[in-house]
Amino acid sequence: MCGIICYLGQRPAVPLLMDGLRRLEYRGYDSSGLAVFSNGSIESERALGKIKALEERLQGKRWPARGGIAHTRWATHGEPSERNAHPHRDCTSSIFLIHNGIIENYQQIKNRLVAKDHQFASETDTEVLTHLVEDHYRGDLVEAVEQALRQVRGAFGIAVMCRQEPDKIVLARRGSPLIIGVRNGEVFAASDVAALVSHTKNVIYLEDNDIAVLTPSQYDIFNLDGADTLNRIETVVDWDVREAEKQGYEHFMLKEIYDQPASIKNALRGRLIEDEGTAKLGGLAPVKDQVLDMDRLIIVSCGTSYYAGLIGRSVIESCTEIGVDVDLASEFRYRRLNLKSGTIVLAISQSGETADTLAAVREAERKGVPVLGMVNVVGSSIARETLAGVYNHAGPEIGVASTKSFTSQVAVLYLVSLLLGRRHRMSVSEGQAFIREFKSIPEKVALILEQADHIRQVARKYRRFKNFLFVGRQLSYPVALEGALKLKEISYLHAEAYAAGEMKHGPIALIDENFPSVCIAPRDSSREKMISNIQEIKARRGPVLGIANQGDAQMAHICDDLIEVPACDELFTPFLTVVPLQLLAYYIARENGCEIDQPRNLAKSVTVE
Ligand code: G6P
Repeated sequence: MCGIICYLGQRPAVPLLMDGLRRLEYRGYDSSGLAVFSNGSIESERALGKIKALEERLQGKRWPARGGIAHTRWATHGEPSERNAHPHRDCTSSIFLIHNGIIENYQQIKNRLVAKDHQFASETDTEVLTHLVEDHYRGDLVEAVEQALRQVRGAFGIAVMCRQEPDKIVLARRGSPLIIGVRNGEVFAASDVAALVSHTKNVIYLEDNDIAVLTPSQYDIFNLDGADTLNRIETVVDWDVREAEKQGYEHFMLKEIYDQPASIKNALRGRLIEDEGTAKLGGLAPVKDQVLDMDRLIIVSCGTSYYAGLIGRSVIESCTEIGVDVDLASEFRYRRLNLKSGTIVLAISQSGETADTLAAVREAERKGVPVLGMVNVVGSSIARETLAGVYNHAGPEIGVASTKSFTSQVAVLYLVSLLLGRRHRMSVSEGQAFIREFKSIPEKVALILEQADHIRQVARKYRRFKNFLFVGRQLSYPVALEGALKLKEISYLHAEAYAAGEMKHGPIALIDENFPSVCIAPRDSSREKMISNIQEIKARRGPVLGIANQGDAQMAHICDDLIEVPACDELFTPFLTVVPLQLLAYYIARENGCEIDQPRNLAKSVTVE
């Protein structure tokens, strides 16, 4: 949600900043801008729309810049427009500031500043912060930023530069990620490691209330509430640069769908103990006894991660006696919960930065229960604020619509189920059978990907419809939710998902020849009931696209179209049934000419509440 990239060093800054913006564009893409130190002054440019628009604005500009700040925006206060784009400047065009997050008390501060004759050019909360820094500026930028931030409520990750203090960038964070990257004679900063890994793998994660001062080749970190210099540990990021690139695929989303056989394997790597028929999750070692002895698990998450949690609930409950609740993080944080000992909260988040999930983590911690994390982005806020956890190791996910993170999260939840199941009623041979089936999944996913051409043909047929119903039962119900979410996210078609048993309580009223249903009906214990539901849809002339196991003649007969998936144990069907739905959404969006990696109004990492 908005992206920040900064550079100070000896190389031309504009191409480096633009490269960083391109890598961050998935975080926000309604406008962008940059400001650079140039010949004792500061030059700035902004543009509405994609990074390409900014590139065009910069053509022919030959600033001898060796440092600057750049930003790609996802609008919160003020519509997407050039004047609301960052960087914002103060009244004298001396101070330039970029900001991720939301300043909650911006209106009160603005009223005070307007009374002091500050001139505002935008509707943003960020510009208020810029003028507030100006108001406190007495020749020392760091001090001015510190004083300004003391008056601010809300979340921020900011980068500030000042004409009077060339070759210096001041960073500060509270609730919105910022990372410093270092390399010989150069220093970078960004809101996301994806923008840094092509330059350096040595990074320092800023923590809440940190303020950092960058100069070429150096950084100092202080605490906003005191002057002490802080020593933050330098970490080496293990991402391969190539992983954050498209590698010949037309879109990141398609590449990430195809990454899944490998990302599921990565989630399992080194975590299965075949002899003992169990799993080993090193990240949970510090809390092993609490985990093994818990009697209630509450999973909190948002979006796709929430649907992964729903699958996790069914699988954990089928392997253990543990009661599992799954809550939307945005709701959990407001509940009056009585969390007894024996309860554990697990936060699932690809980015590790989702504001609501982070708030749920903090609320659960205040209630005194152990909070674990399942996160993909190493070093992210949720990874750092939870007691212990498990990383997904799915590699960077850039497409806004989550795909490989989902199957990776599901894979880790199956590992947790196995670990807990062995503590509960699962025998060693049952554990070993679970592992055998689990290990066959990546190859089966690869077989589904080979059907991409067929799925594309199906997409061509269904692209003309404006509304879709997705239905499934048991483990296929969260898959239906995720399939509908994928379609609406990237194709802007209306899609809703129901537990198939609920169809008769409302949604069936919608069915006619222009309202297709996507029915997920692998050979499982509720297949017969699904067949009845499909008959009910057909009786009302609704077109049916079925997701079924290979060779299912009955499904082939009653569905108008069919996508087949390999057979597997009932428990593992979500890995296989979700992949055709990802491809279906992808191809419908592509056929309809939609922006796939950067769908309108969405952002990859939602750091506002
Ligand atoms: C955004 C993304 C979704 C994601 C959700 C939760 O809405 O577009 O793809 O599922 O946030 O994100 P998280 O990083 O917490 O999993």
